[in-house]
This record gives sequence, structure tokens and C-alpha cells, in this order.
Amino acid sequence: MTLRKVVSVVGAGNVGEHVALLTALKGLADVRLFEIPRKDGDKVFEPVKGKALDIKQMLSAMDTDCKVDGFTVSPEGEGYEPLVNSDVVVITAGFPRKPGMSREDLLEANIKIISTIVSKVKEFAPNSVLLVVTNPVDIMTYVAYKLSGFPANRVVGMAGVLDSARFRTFVAQELGVSPKDVHAYVIGGHGDEMVPLISISNVGGIPLKDLLPKEKLNEIIHRTRFGGGEIVNLMGTSAYHAPAASVVDMIEALIKGTRRILPCSVYLDGDAGEYYGVKGFCVGVPVKLGSNGVEEIIKVPMIEEERKMWERSVESVRKTVEVAEVMIGEKSSR
Ligand code: NAI
Ligand code: 2OP
Repeated sequence: MTLRKVVSVVGAGNVGEHVALLTALKGLADVRLFEIPRKDGDKVFEPVKGKALDIKQMLSAMDTDCKVDGFTVSPEGEGYEPLVNSDVVVITAGFPRKPGMSREDLLEANIKIISTIVSKVKEFAPNSVLLVVTNPVDIMTYVAYKLSGFPANRVVGMAGVLDSARFRTFVAQELGVSPKDVHAYVIGGHGDEMVPLISISNVGGIPLKDLLPKEKLNEIIHRTRFGGGEIVNLMGTSAYHAPAASVVDMIEALIKGTRRILPCSVYLDGDAGEYYGVKGFCVGVPVKLGSNGVEEIIKVPMIEEERKMWERSVESVRKTVEVAEVMIGEKSSR
């Protein structure tokens, strides 16, 4: 009998619970959700157990029998034993942005949360792939890589799949075609300077730059870069449907070993060759994602304009990494 794979999700907030829901609905794996308790006066609630039960009952009415279980953990790191045998551990625990905040404003608070969680993943699921979502994601992926001691191929951050989905949505809307036929990658840091690779983007094989005028493309690039902020300003908190679906796209590649080429935040260490000047931290690049995690880092061609955008984007990640290194007591080898 083949046992089903296990995906653990730490942080059962907006993104975490939707990752659990979509993973189970797609029948990809059994899901274990971890979340801190919520206090209201004297009353202590265990929302994660309620959410897992609710999803479990929903699945009974749907076409899947994946298991979903919820576990209450403490902020100090108690209760993580059920992480054992996880194939993938997704970290979505931490604070999301509120209107007016940048992803970097979350740095200090989220590093504290991530550090405890990573030490527990290392203890109970040392062979898992760590999939980081918490913002600022490139920095948190670097922190998870450093603190876990996992090999670089088993630590990935989610951002590029989401940013590319946003870009593809706006292009598809503009051209009146299915987003399925819009092939595009957004790489670099998950911030306002992210890099849509227009030179290699195409719609049904036709280069994007031949289909849309420069001004329209610039509008779409701008909307993509500020796509997260647009939703924060509308909802008062950050997006979760597209982020959760993007995480599940990555989970599917890891669990099924499909070797999808997906833009992910990964540690660029120079073994695969220095990546356009980046070495020693994490940033979004296209990778081949399969059952061994990151199986290959794909070096894409960039025209000069994209190369300049890339340099601006990675420079802003590099600066925040330096701040984070002081917080976790690391010295970089860069
Ligand atoms: P949320 O506030 O709805 O959920 C976060 C959950 O983490 C909360 O339920 C909270 O109780 C829990 N949590 C806090 N400390 C914890 C701990 N020590 N152990 C376990 N759970 C803990 O926020 P949301 O919208 O789910 O976002 C989560 C994170 O993901 C944020 O940092 C957000 O900025 C980031 N994000 C990143 C995206 C990306 O593209 N990388 C996309 C969307 C969100
Ligand atoms: C986003 O881009 C919050 O980073 C998240 O929606």
C-alpha cells in the first residue's frame, strides 16, 4: 500500500487555510495544519482544529478523501511533533501587510516567528522541502535556508509564480485570450522592482512585444509590480486566493515530481554559476521543481533593459538581507 504524501502548513491564516483546502481538493496529499491559539478574555480558542474539522467535513461532500488535521502549537515552539514524516512544510505563519506597509516592514516580527518554526522543522521533519511564503519572502527564504542547515535544493520561496500569474492575468485581459496561453516569467525580488521578462514572454508563441504597444506593456508591468498593494488597499489585508493557488502549483510539482519550470526564490550559491551577479542570498529565478526540490536553476537570457531592472531589484533584496543577517547573527560569505 502506498501511503499518501504529507504536506504540513504552519500558519492557518488566510493563505495557510486556502493552501490546505486546495491541496486536499486536488488530492495531492494529506494535510497537517499548525496554528497558535487565540485568546478572547478568559476563553482560549483553537481555531486550527475548527478549521481542519470544517475542511474535513467539506471534503466528505466533495470528490476527495485526503485527510486534514489541525494542531495547536505555542509561539515558543511546543506541539510540533506531528510534523514528523512531512514531505513538504509550507510556512505561512507571520504578519501580513496592512495598507501603507511595505513587505520589509514585517521583517523583525516575522524573523522571530520563522526562526522558532524552522528549528522545529529541522527537529521533526529533517528530510522535508521547506516552502516559505511569509514576507518579505526572499529574506525569509534566506533565513530558513541559513537556520535549517538544509541543502539549498530543499528550501524554496513562493513569489514568482504569483507575480507571473498576476502579469499573465493582465496580459490575457488586455488581449482577450486565455491566461493559459500567456507564457511569461516574473523574476527578481518580490518587491516593487520585480522583473517581468518581456523579451522571452509570448502569447501562443508570438512575442509579447509584438502584440502590445510599449505604453500598454509598461502599464501592465506597473500594475503587476504593485499588484499585491492594489489588493491590500482594497481588502485591508493581503491577497490569499492567488497566493494559495501559486503555493499549490509548487506543491504539485514537488509531490508529483513533474519538473515544472517555475520562478521561485532560491539560494544562489555559485555552484550552478553566479546568477547575473547574485551569489549568497535568495531571489526569484526560474527553476526546475521536482521530487528532489530544486533540480536545476535555469539561467534565462536577459536583454540590457531587463538586466538593469534585475540589478535594481536584487540590490534592494541584498540590502534587506544584510539587515536580516544582523538579526539572525549570520555573516554572509558574499
Ligand atoms: P494571516 O494573518 O491571515 O495568517 C498568518 C497566520 O500566522 C495567523 O493565523 C497567525 O495566527 C499565524 N501565526 C503567527 N505566529 C505564529 C506562530 N508562531 N506559529 C504558528 N502560526 C502563527 O496572514 P496571511 O494573509 O495568511 O499571510 C501570511 C504571510 O504570508 C504574511 O507574511 C504575508 O505577507 C505573506 N504572503 C506572502 C505572499 C508571497 O507571495 N510570498 C503572498 C501572500 C501572503
Ligand atoms: C502579495 O504580493 C502579500 O506579497 C503578497 O500579495
